[in-house]
Amino acid sequence: MCGIIGYVGKRNAQPILIQGLKRLEYRGYDSAGVALFNQGSSNAITIVKTAKDNLPNGVSPLISLAGKLKPDSAQIGIAHTRWATHGEPNETNAHPHVCNKHGIAVVHNGIIENYRALRKYLESKGHTMSTGTDSEVLAHLIGENFDAKEKDPLISAVQKTLAEIEGTYGMAVMMKGYDGIVAARNGSPLIIGLGDEELFISSDPGPINDHTKNIIRLDDFQVARIGPDGYHITNLDNDVFESKVEKITWDIKQIELSGYDHFMQKEIFQQPQTVQDAFRGRLGEKGVRLDGLDELGKVMPKISRIKLVACGTSWHASKIGKYLFENLAGIPAEVDYASEFRYAHPILDPAELVIVLSQSGETADTLEALRQAKKTNHTFGIVNAVGSLITRENDAGIYIHAGPEIGVASTKAFTGQVTCLYLMALQMGIERGVIDNYSVHKAELESLPGKIKEILDMDSNIKTIAENYAKNKNYLFLGRGINFPVALEGALKLKEISKIHAEGYPAAEMKHGPIALIDKNMPVVFVATGRDTLYEKVLSNMEEVKARKGKIIAVVNQGDERVRDLADHIIPVPTTSKWLAPLLNVIPLQLLAYHTAVIRGKNPDKPENLAKAVTVE
Ligand code: M6R
Repeated sequence: MCGIIGYVGKRNAQPILIQGLKRLEYRGYDSAGVALFNQGSSNAITIVKTAKDNLPNGVSPLISLAGKLKPDSAQIGIAHTRWATHGEPNETNAHPHVCNKHGIAVVHNGIIENYRALRKYLESKGHTMSTGTDSEVLAHLIGENFDAKEKDPLISAVQKTLAEIEGTYGMAVMMKGYDGIVAARNGSPLIIGLGDEELFISSDPGPINDHTKNIIRLDDFQVARIGPDGYHITNLDNDVFESKVEKITWDIKQIELSGYDHFMQKEIFQQPQTVQDAFRGRLGEKGVRLDGLDELGKVMPKISRIKLVACGTSWHASKIGKYLFENLAGIPAEVDYASEFRYAHPILDPAELVIVLSQSGETADTLEALRQAKKTNHTFGIVNAVGSLITRENDAGIYIHAGPEIGVASTKAFTGQVTCLYLMALQMGIERGVIDNYSVHKAELESLPGKIKEILDMDSNIKTIAENYAKNKNYLFLGRGINFPVALEGALKLKEISKIHAEGYPAAEMKHGPIALIDKNMPVVFVATGRDTLYEKVLSNMEEVKARKGKIIAVVNQGDERVRDLADHIIPVPTTSKWLAPLLNVIPLQLLAYHTAVIRGKNPDKPENLAKAVTVE
């Protein structure tokens, strides 16, 4: 995943592009670059690039890029912030890539799968590649396909090129002497922003929200030109499209830090609101109202199984969903990694509803799994990003309504997803006649935002715990039943942003292997809320850790004195129903990861090697 921004208008493109890249930085931050074309003063395109590996530790490529740019009044430009897939994250491999044959500059998000063959072909035609990337072949192939006799030679060359490549792309192309930008997408999102006598290309609405609220989302295999004459959208065969103009409804404040040190911190602290926004307007007096489920209409009563498909944190939310569907609605549910599902040729029961979960709605594996499932089954999406690809390809779905999530480590989307899964399980349970105490569920859900606030008030205590173990090299997270996915999520958060190795396990599995690692240097986080039959067993697991001098950090219910005697650190959370407990228990684990990362001098919003949405395989 990378970020792309382009501008054509009457203003100076430079500051617009740099500001836009800052908003896109969460999509990748290995390197950055711009291409500018100043029609007034020269016929050449200026390219400036920079990469992290050339910079002093901690300096972002964007800061360096802004510093390297000479004052200029170019009114056309494209810019890119990179998350490396093919080729090291160095300055040479930074975008834009150039073909000197016609002065073509390209920024690209995605993967060109047949780039090796194309490279050989292009070299045989006399092109010299100067980078280790797959993207560079795009610039050269467009150059090779350029035919000045065409009506708009750049559009034609791009269309021809895209017909020859295999892979995914969101891309923007400029050419010296050309008064616009040509953009195209397949698999990687791209939108056009419609301003007042100016037009934008962007990977998402964030960078252009300051300039216009009107956008057009490009579809796969569409090619667009933006220029002084407006915008023009075709497919690869040059058929013209009239696309729907959408309004961005969210406010710019949602993508600003608003006094917080990091987006991750802001998003953790937004969760009382996130959970409320996920259930607001959906809890009726007699039952849940989810328009998305109603859209499935007559299909719903026939559903007898559920398959949840997702990646990363969304997969952890799905694991919780399995417990909810099975225990609240009495429907058997299974969870698959999208990356495995798509190649596993799964044998799906026709009565199986396939639910895909995704914060971004862009994850390539999840999107492809959805496409596979759609061939035979009904599909449903639980997504955060409004209008994203996954929402557009599902049969039906619901939004989480968490607002833009910028922190690379997903936090508020997780609690939003779990809240939505709970609502779905409730509605399906009511419709199937297996829930007769809806009002109890409703009241408990409505009390959660206040309980989350109580946990957030313990922030400084959790920071102190983090300080104790910030130098440790490993962590273990244990939980049972519905708290097992919470343990997985706690471990994922910590490893993503703090670079401490962490594992999540079902508590009882510890004795089948991980116990070998326990000594005085191993902090073990137990998620041990609730007083069901598993509670005593988890206490035994704590004894086992204590006997081996491991350090115990326990998330327990307020008033739990038994664990207090065993644990080195207690994080007491308010009591709630067993099925809602993950929504509370995950909060201290997010805070623990956040503080650990900051104490270790890491920027939690820019974890190494990660990007917010993985739009490549
Ligand atoms: O946007 P998605 O929910 O589809 O993303 C799935 C994963 O890539 C994502 O959850 C990833 O694991 C996060 N970095 C977790 O914090």
